Amino acid sequence: MITGGAGQIAYSLLPPLASGAVFGMDQPVILHLLDIPPAITALGGVVMELEDLAYPLLAGVLGTTDPDEAFKDVDYAVFLGAFPRKEGMERKDVMTKNIGIFNSQGSALSKGAKPGVKCVVVGNPANTNAAILSRAAPNVDPKNISALTRLDHNRAASHLAIKCGVSCDKVSGVIIWGNHSGTQYPDVRHATVEGKPAREVCTDAAWIEGEYITKVQKRGAAIIEARKLSSAASAAKAICDHMRDWVLGTGDGYVSMAVKSDGSHYGVPEGLFYSMPVKCSGGEWTVVDGLPIDEFSQGKMTATANELSEELALALSLL
Ligand code: NAD
Ligand code: LMR
Repeated sequence: MITGGAGQIAYSLLPPLASGAVFGMDQPVILHLLDIPPAITALGGVVMELEDLAYPLLAGVLGTTDPDEAFKDVDYAVFLGAFPRKEGMERKDVMTKNIGIFNSQGSALSKGAKPGVKCVVVGNPANTNAAILSRAAPNVDPKNISALTRLDHNRAASHLAIKCGVSCDKVSGVIIWGNHSGTQYPDVRHATVEGKPAREVCTDAAWIEGEYITKVQKRGAAIIEARKLSSAASAAKAICDHMRDWVLGTGDGYVSMAVKSDGSHYGVPEGLFYSMPVKCSGGEWTVVDGLPIDEFSQGKMTATANELSEELALALSLL
């Protein structure tokens, strides 16, 4: 099930979901696409194109504006549909609109989806929308609700690889901590490049602690400025990576996912959907615990946690 099915991320996301690239080449897929009434004609066009892709694993497509129909019996839910911030709007205005969306979709999810449904929230502010969704979906285990920070993780790996002159598969162990926002902390202190500690391969410490962090934090804004639209192809690829690794496993490595903090890892307050390093196996994620955190990292991790606490308090005050 995909909300915002007529939007631009969906357009890049649906073909790999239907092809078998995410859930496996032996797994048939039925796609439920939800959008709002003004987008119904465009949604019909997306359904037509999915049929015309002629993917053998695509066992059915439903396009609807009815959340109850969309969420019925689904195993996976990707939440793209959200109200974008427009010129002149305050953060509080956009938050009010999105809380309404995620609150009502949370109850439709809780009522209709399969009990083990796995959810990823992409629509911004993704972490706080995930918290609102979870609160409104009492039948869904909070461990099955996540927010997307894999795009930031992929950006962090790719820019380190570019700096080191290697392809991005040679980089592993980068971490995105915290919020999918300008306060996120891309951390290379535990990363490796071709198996060697990243900070031994890239000795430009000023770059790692300055320009690199800012570049990853502000990449989404830079793309909006250049394209006049937010990232879509890279966001869709990141959603595929996130779901595939969650369902099929991360193997030896770990990835970044924003998950509900139970208060026991890295001092992150309980209840925040905070991005952390996780390993996935058998469809379950576990936080990679016990990584040593220095003062520089701790300051950045606390700053992004503080922003998330404020964002969640604002969201809850508007309910
Ligand atoms: P878009 O505007 O092209 O598409 C959004 C779609 O959602 C539209 O078709 C719209 O009609 C629909 N929609 C709006 N309200 C809805 C509702 N209540 N129910 C169902 N559908 C609804 O946007 P996009 O480029 O596809 O981006 C989607 C969201 O993802 C945005 O909020 C964007 O900021 C966010 N985003 C997040 C990340 C991330 O890494 N977390 C990356 C890129 C974009
Ligand atoms: C991104 O990181 O590319 C997006 O979240 C940016 C945005 O505000 O939509």
